[in-house]
Amino acid sequence: MRDAMRPVIAPDGGTAAVQGVMIDVTARKEIDARLRERAEELTRLATALERSNKELDAFAYAASHDLRAPLRGIANLAQWIEEDMHGSLTEGTREMLALMRSRMHRMEALIDGILEYSRAGRVHHRPDKVSVGRLVRDVVDLLAPESATVWVQSGLPDVLTERLPLQQVFHNLIGNALKHGGEGVQVDVRARDADAFWEFRVEDDGPGIAPEFHDRVWGIFQTLEPRDKVEGAGIGLSLVKKLVESQGGRVWIESMAGAGATFAFLWRKTASPAEGE
Ligand SMILES: Nc1ncnc2c1ncn2[C@@H]1O[C@H](COP(=O)(O)OP(=O)(O)OP(=O)(O)O)[C@@H](O)[C@H]1O
Ligand SMILES: [Mg+2]
Repeated sequence: MRDAMRPVIAPDGGTAAVQGVMIDVTARKEIDARLRERAEELTRLATALERSNKELDAFAYAASHDLRAPLRGIANLAQWIEEDMHGSLTEGTREMLALMRSRMHRMEALIDGILEYSRAGRVHHRPDKVSVGRLVRDVVDLLAPESATVWVQSGLPDVLTERLPLQQVFHNLIGNALKHGGEGVQVDVRARDADAFWEFRVEDDGPGIAPEFHDRVWGIFQTLEPRDKVEGAGIGLSLVKKLVESQGGRVWIESMAGAGATFAFLWRKTASPAEGE
């Protein structure tokens, strides 16, 4: 109950009566308490989620790290067997050993992918002034496209950000356009202003991705083509999503099957104060 009382003064100056209003605030108090409870529960859940994400990253890191040594051992043994039996190997056995080697390389790539994924977004470095134009040109040089052309919009902006995650994002998106876009693919890299963010777009004129697969491609180890056809661990896009979101941005696909693919993401113009510590 909340009340507001005020005296009613009589003509002679004395108090004649007391006038008051009483409001029942029980319902409002209940709602306030319930809201507070919900807010506390949400904070608790967010903390628990963050902790389990960290534990998962730590587990992925430890598991993948420890899996590498025995895998290396198996690869070495296979090589020694091949060397020892050189000359007495049949064509069939030679082929099987080659296949075994390629599977081991694939497994190594998967393990490296888990390691990279578990590390992504975990360590923050100090933000730098980064020329996105130069960064993209460096990425393209490194990828050294053969039959493809990559057009980089002139006047791409400078951003105040951590360099490495932005470079990894462009490396994976441009790399995907080149790898999955087919012979002679044309790739465009552009930027447009989106308030506190830049929206970067990597567009290709390759086979595109049907809308029903737009959600699936972000999952770790998800590839749309069998790995024997297009070699890939299926790590790239899961990494891109984790990196972009760890910087407070968002990433999405605009694509129809057969009509090229555009991957767009938002990246802060200036790293938020919480980052880069
Ligand atoms: N530009 C693109 N055009 C068509 N399909 C694409 C494109 N980018 C990605 N994809 C599809 O999405 C899948 C997931 O991409 P992702 O980058 O995660 O894995 P990957 O490129 O196969 O392997 P990795 O990046 O680990 O080498 C790809 O296997 C491919 O099928
Ligand atoms: Mg990829």
